[in-house]
Amino acid sequence: MIRIDIATLFTGMCETVMDESIIGRARREHKFELYTHQIRDFTINRQKQVDDYPYGGGHGMVMQADPIARCLDFILWQYEKKGQARPRVCFMTPAGRPYDQAKAKELARLPGLVLVCGHYEGIDERVIEAYADEEISIGDYVLTGGELAALSVADSVLRLQPGVLSSPEGYQGESFYDGLLEYPQYSRPEVWRDRAVPPVLLSGHAANIRAWRAGQGVSRTRARRPDLYLALPPEVASPPAKLPKKKRKR
Ligand code: ADE
Repeated sequence: MIRIDIATLFTGMCETVMDESIIGRARREHKFELYTHQIRDFTINRQKQVDDYPYGGGHGMVMQADPIARCLDFILWQYEKKGQARPRVCFMTPAGRPYDQAKAKELARLPGLVLVCGHYEGIDERVIEAYADEEISIGDYVLTGGELAALSVADSVLRLQPGVLSSPEGYQGESFYDGLLEYPQYSRPEVWRDRAVPPVLLSGHAANIRAWRAGQGVSRTRARRPDLYLALPPEVASPPAKLPKKKRKR
């Protein structure tokens, strides 16, 4: 069972999100372990200060190395005490490696994961150097803190754990799982505001439906995400236009 630890200045925000919906239910059912840690609790000054001015000047404040280091020492000591392997330590920063489904799958196979959330204008580089196995960015935009990034990583990793989704098909056909965007989905009614559901989906012909969906996944990926399309293996990028007809035996 995977264990995830989130080190943050906003434990309430993380607990709220991780207690809702599918992840919340799975957490209550002990499908994984998730702990949040208040970095401020690991300060040793009376004001519980966690940030200070940047050396060299500039605006804003920088999160200091020591409270984060003490918090991480505590988490790592907990793993050690239980005889568990050292978890992967990931810092959430906009300067990190871009996060994607392949990384989610990789992290989902680990026994332990620690997600560190920065705030203010950044984190003292020395604690990143000393502790980070990797730095992760969830996209080319800047958030006010690492929490939304850590929660995105946690959610995407946890939904891949056994028993979290009702069935593995829940994620096996969807966007990015095999490097493709997902085909469009439809539900009742058959006609909504003059828009009809594609007839093939009402045909009951399983092979045709599969072929239509595969084609939609590829054409959407080509139109919307040429970067993903170019990375597809050739047999996926250009599926046979029509399924070969089987010769009927008379
Ligand atoms: N912290 C602030 N912005 C971020 C981003 N895009 N990804 C990860 N952590 C962040």
